[in-house]
Amino acid sequence: MSLAATLRTAVANASATRLTTLCGTLATALALGAFGTLGVSRSAQAAGPLSVRVGFVSPLSGDYANYGRDLENGAQLALDEANAQNLRIGDQPAHFELVPIDDRGDPRLGVQAAATLANQNVNAVVGHFNSGTAIPASRVYESAGIPMISPAATNPVITSQGFANTFMVIANDAQNAGVAGAWAVEVMKAKRVAIVDDRSAFGQGEADVFERTVREHGGNVVAREFAESVSDDFGPQLAKIKAADADLLYFGGLARQGAALVKQMKERSMRAQFVAGGGVANADFIQAAGAAGEGAMAWEYGRPLAQLPDGPRFEQAYRSRFGSNVLAYAPFGYDAAWAAIHAMVNAKSAKPDVYRGALKMLSFDGVTGRIAFEPDGSLKNGASTLWQVKKGVWVPVTTRGG
Ligand code: ALA
Repeated sequence: MSLAATLRTAVANASATRLTTLCGTLATALALGAFGTLGVSRSAQAAGPLSVRVGFVSPLSGDYANYGRDLENGAQLALDEANAQNLRIGDQPAHFELVPIDDRGDPRLGVQAAATLANQNVNAVVGHFNSGTAIPASRVYESAGIPMISPAATNPVITSQGFANTFMVIANDAQNAGVAGAWAVEVMKAKRVAIVDDRSAFGQGEADVFERTVREHGGNVVAREFAESVSDDFGPQLAKIKAADADLLYFGGLARQGAALVKQMKERSMRAQFVAGGGVANADFIQAAGAAGEGAMAWEYGRPLAQLPDGPRFEQAYRSRFGSNVLAYAPFGYDAAWAAIHAMVNAKSAKPDVYRGALKMLSFDGVTGRIAFEPDGSLKNGASTLWQVKKGVWVPVTTRGG
């Protein structure tokens, strides 16, 4: 959709919302009047279902749509379960509804999506997928006073802005790329490190942390290159990296580019070990990289789902509901939605001003592990797992932190 069309839709949605709200108010007033004459008590009126709307923003079309759909499914599963459990918020039964918006991973569309959700007064937001959209969108949610819970956007800037409404249920890149940098020098004994990133807030952010950590551990960075996230041609960058005789190549970016990179490394018979940051250890990488993906490594947030107490149940429930396997961050989408639900139930209110405090104090066992927040909204005790492709399958090697 063009920017102009998106804006028109946003305006139309906002008007429709105001109309719906007006009709709702009118209907409530009429109902109250009617109940009044029939002598129905106030407490019976208060016991009607409370509609809780959870905004969701991610790329649902374009290059990153698979990640976005996977996250959306995770959040939807949480809401389905909450509805099936007939949860109450205070004295009212609650009905949870997901309000999804596609930001295509584009910062401008991400900000517009945030403005649309703020206009609609959603009760919480699960999103965004990309750090590049989450960072500017977080300012919109902060002004609107609506908690945004990031299930996948991992740049530490997101929670370091001093905002009261920004939360992250996933380890951040200070942790994930920091562990990767230390491991490359201390354990892999890399002597000549090359770094490539996609110039996104995410990829460049994790590459910066990785480079700093490698240097802090006495490692030698022999090349620092980048290719914009739309490009799949790494020819010039790999020529320099090969000439620099790198023995390890760290990549900050997502699966499609990571797969193109390993293929082009193979074509050039490069000896460097490929190690990615987050967003690469998934089935899309394996499919796109084919045989060139064998031996590739990547650091992902959290612990392997199969090793977590509720992981296998979640994978099975996801498969039954959506007919496909978890791709990447669905478990974090699920935990982000449950964080909002638990906080509302604990606070006996779906109003952000009332339940925000409960969200800050929250501690529960999610699918991905214990969910509790630092004072800045980042996840307490985040973990990172190193994965490697062995015989065409991502296999966990080690987990750090958590
Ligand atoms: N973790 C990735 C990001 O922050 C998806 O953009």
